[in-house]
Parts: sequence; C-alpha cells; structure tokens
Amino acid sequence: MKTRLEQIIALVKEVGAMQIDNFEKKHQIAKKSTRFDLVTEVDKLSEKMITDFIGARYPEDSILAEESGRVDGQSEYTWVVDPLDGTTNYSHRFPVYSISIGLQRGDQAVLGVVYAPMMGELFHAVRSRGAFLNGQPIAVSGCANLEDSLLGTGFLYTGSGLDNNLLQFNHLCPMVQGIRRTGSAAYDLCCVAAGIYDGFWEYRLHPWDVAAATLIIEEAGGSVIYLSREGLNVSLVAGNRQICDQIQVELQKIAGALPAGDLAGS
Ligand code: IPD
Ligand code: CA
Ligand code: CA
Repeated sequence: MKTRLEQIIALVKEVGAMQIDNFEKKHQIAKKSTRFDLVTEVDKLSEKMITDFIGARYPEDSILAEESGRVDGQSEYTWVVDPLDGTTNYSHRFPVYSISIGLQRGDQAVLGVVYAPMMGELFHAVRSRGAFLNGQPIAVSGCANLEDSLLGTGFLYTGSGLDNNLLQFNHLCPMVQGIRRTGSAAYDLCCVAAGIYDGFWEYRLHPWDVAAATLIIEEAGGSVIYLSREGLNVSLVAGNRQICDQIQVELQKIAGALPAGDLAGS
C-alpha cells in the first residue's frame, strides 16, 4: 500500500499543477444531467491523466471514475476517482476544489487521497494507519454540542426549493455556530477529518465524492453514518460521534415535515 500511496500522491500533485496552470483560462463548460451539473475540458484531462496512470500500473484493477464510468478488472481492487470535485467553483475561478482518489479492496476502503491544489492541502489515509494533512496527523474535533459546532453541507444539482436540503439547512442553522458550503464535498469531508468542521451532512452524493474522504474521516477518529446508499447515490452524515448523532436526530425530526418524494428518506 505504501507504493500505491506514494504513486497517488505524486499523481495528484501533477494533476493539481495542471489544474492550477489552467485555472485562469476560459473553459469549455458543458452541462451534464442538469444546467447546474458542469464538466470542463480540465475535468476530462484530469481524469485521463489519472486513469491512464492507474491503468498503466495496475491493469488488473477496476476503476470507477466520474466522467468515464466503470472499467472492470480482474483484481479485488477498485479505484474510485473524482478528477475535479468542485467543477462549478473551478469554472467560476473560486479556488476551493479538490482531486479525490479512493481505493477499495472488495467493499472496504483501504486508501484515500484528497488534494486541494489551490489551498496546498493534501489529505491522506491508509486503513489502520491514521489520517494526515500535509504529512501531519489529524483528528476530528472534540466538540460535544451542536450549539458550539461549525457544520458543512451541500445542495443537490437536481432539486430546488423544499426538495433541496433547504428545510434541513433552515432547521439546523439556528442551532449551530455556522454552516458552510464550499462546493467540494470531498474537501468538506476532509474539513471534518481535520477537526475544522464538527459535522457534515449531504444528500445524494456519489461514490467518487466520498470514497477517499470517508476513510480519511474514519482514520481521523470520526464517524460516517449512511442515511442511504442506492446505486450511485450516497446520503450521509459525518463528524465526531456525538455531533454525527445529533445531526441525524435533527434530520429525523423534520423528515415528517417534508413532502413525499423529497429528501426525507434519501
Ligand atoms: C459536486 C461537489 C458539491 C456537491 C455536489 C457534487 P462535482 O461534485 O462535490 O460540493 O454538493 O453534489 O456533485 O460535480 O463538482 O464533481
Ligand atoms: Ca464530485
Ligand atoms: Ca467532479
């Protein structure tokens, strides 16, 4: 695993340097599932660099990558790749975005690397070996009460109004010190791992948003509660155990107030 970790760290630094070189340029922005769901030429080039690198060194492994989908290999390992998490930010030159690469052995996450190039922040974890930011050990916060907490969240690309986490946001907002939404879920989750956020929740993320960062949180002593995992949709709460439980209780309290078909059970 040490070799794989070193290789992936070198790779994300190379991809991150390319992303920084292109940051100020005018991008070719295309819309995917909705008008909010963007992809640029830099997402595609980043993903090609990553999948070419992994494919050349680990041809037996499977790859699940956001832009190109799934390639099945013969080994028990699967790489889960978001080449640029925070494309809307990148397209608008808002500098919070990240590269996320997770590795699973069967169903178990064994390696996670999240690199935020513009912030110069590289998070990593190997199962049972702890979590690190730029080589220094990190841990989730010790905050015990929502009223003392800073939380993170995000909003779906597809929904609007009640069907887009706004009731939940409005419910939790007066209970906490603040709620942040960076636009990069992988980076948000790493803020939990580093004890910057005390907790986080979001509905209908995807495996490539969370594969690396959830291992980093667990290795930083935190908890991840899956509200649901269906196909490529992942809804979760994360944080230190106490804050995680308190967020889940509050989300459950208002679930009954939500119209049918929205995020109540997501
Ligand atoms: C998005 C970001 C955002 C989250 C969205 C994701 P993308 O990823 O992680 O924070 O709210 O749900 O899709 O599309 O920029 O890779
Ligand atoms: Ca993403
Ligand atoms: Ca992406």
